[in-house]
Amino acid sequence: MNNPQLSLSTVANQLVAPSKGILAADESTGTMTKRLDAIHVESTLENRNKWREIMMTSTGVESYISGVILYDETLRTPTLGGVKLQDLFQSKKIHIGIKVDGGTVKLPGLGEEVFIQGLDKLGKRLLEYKELGATFTKWRAVYSVGENMPSDAVITGNSIALAQYAALVQEAGLVPIVEPEILVLTGSHTIETSKEITKKVLTDVFRWLKEFKVDLKGMLLKPNMVLPGKEHLAMTSADDIAKFTVETLLATVPPEVPGMVFLSGGLNPDQSTEYLAKMNQLYAGKLPWQLSYSYGRALQQEGLQAWSGKQENVTTAQKVFLDRAKKVSQARSGKI
Ligand code: 13P
Repeated sequence: MNNPQLSLSTVANQLVAPSKGILAADESTGTMTKRLDAIHVESTLENRNKWREIMMTSTGVESYISGVILYDETLRTPTLGGVKLQDLFQSKKIHIGIKVDGGTVKLPGLGEEVFIQGLDKLGKRLLEYKELGATFTKWRAVYSVGENMPSDAVITGNSIALAQYAALVQEAGLVPIVEPEILVLTGSHTIETSKEITKKVLTDVFRWLKEFKVDLKGMLLKPNMVLPGKEHLAMTSADDIAKFTVETLLATVPPEVPGMVFLSGGLNPDQSTEYLAKMNQLYAGKLPWQLSYSYGRALQQEGLQAWSGKQENVTTAQKVFLDRAKKVSQARSGKI
């Protein structure tokens, strides 16, 4: 839906409209190759776009999906399912999003921690993406948890980059999704540690968003849920995850932000659905923002498996994909 009349806050609110959320289908070529390798499908441009076409041409996808984040190669694809890409999205009233960060880079002296590149000439790229129909964007910063991690350098460096990105995106008339993804499932830390780190990172992110005069009403936050390291996950209740996550967000995210669109971050589809439902159940009517989704793996995993690269499986794959999308959509109103 590329309607130049829509304000940033209208688009942001449409993206988190009740019972809807975002499909993250912006895997870089390397990541998509891993996903296709797992189902023994060759990672050609044709196959990568075929899968994206299968999802986007599923009948009724627009009941659950308000926007799709694409990767550069998909946005440049002239047609999906024989229809002009922009027309397909327009006909379903689904917003087109685009990942604009340039991936990770290591810096000498900072061990395993990474920074994100991509601010160079971003303004020019944004105008091109807008021309191609995009109304929103995503920038993912990533933080490891461990001894002395995330470091202050990574926290501040990422906050400033996220804020500069968000300011440039709004200047171009697009809605920025700000994604500080803390890899909370990796490691052996407790949920308390995860909360402390998420709080520290989000506090710093909002400090810099304000410094760079980002309009909080015209952006969305894509946070991780507050989870313990993987080995403790089975012992942690959905209630606790919901409470730790929402308490952390209440302490850090200003009420002007229209919504949270969680990432699934390695949780399986059922866990991602259950935890989102639990948060919406426990806090119904009590929060200043919407609690929604921008899942990649949790929305795609089962459908991708059902497809397995075979034409005869397309109808089943679409059904499996839509079934999960429906469950996640219902999680918006607390149903599990
Ligand atoms: P996952 O839901 O697979 O974590 O992907 C979301 C995403 O877009 C991460 O940047």
